Amino acid sequence: MPIPTVLVVDDEQLIRWSLSQRLEHEGYRVVEAGTAETALARHGEGVDLVLLDYTLPDGDGLAVLKRIKDADADTVVIMLTAHSSVDLAVEAMKGGAYHYANKPFNLDEIALLVEQALETTRLRREVRALRATQAQPFSLDRIVGQSRAIAEAKALLQKVAASPASTVLLTGESGTGKDLAAKVLHYASSRAARPFMNITCSALPDTILESELFGHERGAFTDARSQKRGLLESADGGTVFLDEIGEMAPALQAKLLRFLEEKTFKRVGGVADLRVDVRVVAATNRHLEEEVQKGRFREDLYYRLNVLPIVLPPLRARADDIPALVHYFVDAYNTEFRKRVRGVSAEAMRRLQAHGWPGNIRELRNAVERAMLLVDGDQLTADQFPALSGAGPRLSEAVDLPAAGINLEQLERSLVVQALERSGWNQTRAAGLLGLNRDQIRYRIEKFKLEKPAAAAE
Ligand SMILES: Nc1ncnc2c1ncn2[C@@H]1O[C@H](COP(=O)(O)OP(=O)(O)O)[C@@H](O)[C@H]1O
Ligand SMILES: [Mg+2]
Repeated sequence: MPIPTVLVVDDEQLIRWSLSQRLEHEGYRVVEAGTAETALARHGEGVDLVLLDYTLPDGDGLAVLKRIKDADADTVVIMLTAHSSVDLAVEAMKGGAYHYANKPFNLDEIALLVEQALETTRLRREVRALRATQAQPFSLDRIVGQSRAIAEAKALLQKVAASPASTVLLTGESGTGKDLAAKVLHYASSRAARPFMNITCSALPDTILESELFGHERGAFTDARSQKRGLLESADGGTVFLDEIGEMAPALQAKLLRFLEEKTFKRVGGVADLRVDVRVVAATNRHLEEEVQKGRFREDLYYRLNVLPIVLPPLRARADDIPALVHYFVDAYNTEFRKRVRGVSAEAMRRLQAHGWPGNIRELRNAVERAMLLVDGDQLTADQFPALSGAGPRLSEAVDLPAAGINLEQLERSLVVQALERSGWNQTRAAGLLGLNRDQIRYRIEKFKLEKPAAAAE
């Protein structure tokens, strides 16, 4: 930790002087203030600990304490008071003071208090940082959401994580959390202490992908000057995540299938069969079944992968999860950007829930990130989400009319029912989800003779 800075606030110069002398002697950097106003200004320049007098010429110490804590909750404040009053002490502790000392104080006592306080904060900061970065970075809780669709996916992930059974196929549109699910699966499994390796099949030319995955022998091809271990070997005991498996070339698909069935493989240019124990988790945003029909994906590999399919639902199918996700990202960016946003306005949340989110959670995260960068106050409002029109829902893509046609009345009824269910029969919100006004939705409720089910009654 760099040299801690201590701010000494007292209107009596002699007290400031004696405290500064002692603390500088202890090795701290010391800055002084004689008024509440200077104290706040100095604090804004960055201090770790404040020794704060209770009575100041231009304000009382408790008010200064509050403003310091509001500006930076991590600053440690020790109150100094001339009259030993229990009430004051209690108020100070309630206001977030670390401790208080009565005047006249003993300098040894103050020096000790300062040292302990700084040590405690240092430890507290370290623990917090550790918790944020390491402790269970990918526990199941990291997947935010309570909707039925996501709850099902989470339950499956948990089950699969606990079982040694191998291959898993994650499907879902881009941004629905496939990468996240793969990591959660790995870290929730008994393989957690072993490597998690991932590779994006579409990012590399076939031959390179092959040697990345399976490794190669020296001289296997022009550039192979030395032997190289592949991902499968490096991940032994752990998990290999094959992202965008739908883009894998057919020849490689065959080699992967052989590995999945026999647990053995050969390095490129090698003859020896190598055996490793890895769980393969594959992901795709394509409809593999269609790819199989079109002859682009091997049917046998598809069936081998599809033993344990886990579907990550698109965000628009689980608008109920949007508030929780938004709050999750607000918290995360509060920490990252050192902001103190406490909430989201009702109008902004309405628009967030009505939006179609073609980019799914990734798009939502980016929208919140941008809003958090722009916001000045302690609440996100619709102003920070200019891309979300207030007009109502937008379909992510045009709906293709199926070849066999559809029944428009039935579709309309079904959409109205879904909107009502999703909004707990709140007609205004349901109307919002459909881009209608209240009269228009009432008209449809009557037209379709819809009735609020007893269970949803308030
Ligand atoms: N259920 C979720 N809860 C919290 N964050 C999520 C969730 N699903 C996805 N994310 C976040 O959204 C972003 C996109 O997810 P990602 O796993 O990369 O999607 P995909 O691999 O399907 O494109 C990442 O930042 C991820 O951490
Ligand atoms: Mg991904």
